[in-house]
Amino acid sequence: MKLQTPSTSLEMLEKRLVELIPKEGGYYSSLYDAARYSLLSGGKRLRPQLIFAVAEALDCDPAIVLDPACAIEMIHTYSMIHDDLPCMDDDDLRRGIPTLHKVFGEALALLAGDFLLTHAYKVLAEAPHLDLQQKIAMIQTLASLSGGDGMIGGQVIDITTTGKPVSREILETTHLLKTGALIASSLLFGGLAAGADSDTLKSLRNIGFQLGLAYQVVDDVLDQTSEEKRRGKKEGPDQAHGNTTYATLLGNEKALAYAEDLLEEALKDIQTFSTQNQKLSELAVSLVRRSK
Ligand code: IPE
Ligand code: IPE
Ligand code: MG
Ligand code: MG
Ligand code: MG
Repeated sequence: MKLQTPSTSLEMLEKRLVELIPKEGGYYSSLYDAARYSLLSGGKRLRPQLIFAVAEALDCDPAIVLDPACAIEMIHTYSMIHDDLPCMDDDDLRRGIPTLHKVFGEALALLAGDFLLTHAYKVLAEAPHLDLQQKIAMIQTLASLSGGDGMIGGQVIDITTTGKPVSREILETTHLLKTGALIASSLLFGGLAAGADSDTLKSLRNIGFQLGLAYQVVDDVLDQTSEEKRRGKKEGPDQAHGNTTYATLLGNEKALAYAEDLLEEALKDIQTFSTQNQKLSELAVSLVRRSK
């Protein structure tokens, strides 16, 4: 099915994000300014890219997944804003610019995060091209996977274990929840928009968790090895906070080898649900073999 595709999916995404958070002139315009500061500050747009790639693999028009992709990027951005706050990771650089609380203050950063989180569900509820069942399935998927038994649960384990020695099992659970769950919802969104069957959805969910875990393992290694300029966030905060990560637990080389094993599994699984999987496979490779 092809609707209008005037530009590439990522160009469409950037344009749509601007439309969805319009400039507001009222008494609370600073809320919109703050949300736009973080949401429109670039970033790899990995989760939207995954949604578009799954849509392509399942022969679904990118215009159908555009608003769902924006909703996931809003959830991701809110999680980064809150993750950077002084009460969490206390970071002052994100996507190459000062973190939101450094520029707008902590209270507004908290509220801008709340706003993006809330707005994501409005965007999903109002998304064009989707029927009611698809919208409800997406809302339910996102609420579960980014909620208490998903991303937020993972963030809680992360902060309550900061500075403490952690077993590999706990570390794996933390990574699967804090990062894997939102990546799994991204793949599921592509499947739900395409009307995929339950076996395909199950497979997409597994691939998402595998890739999400691999992504966070590589992120932990890059935290120690990559330059601040290239990544747009500070080098070495995990080490500085005494955090257990895959890099500290296994060493960089073994951690990267583990990420490669996860990638190999994911690539095998990707072959099973679509023959049009080239973009998704390339994306999977690029998110594990990355330098930023
Ligand atoms: C950063 O996410 C947090 C992790 C889950 C490792 P991204 O690496 O996707 O960050 P942006 O969106 O490109 O800034
Ligand atoms: C972030 O993990 C995961 C979420 C916000 C859900 P990190 O704390 O490791 O991410 P960075 O290193 O700040 O990007
Ligand atoms: Mg964190
Ligand atoms: Mg952090
Ligand atoms: Mg990190």
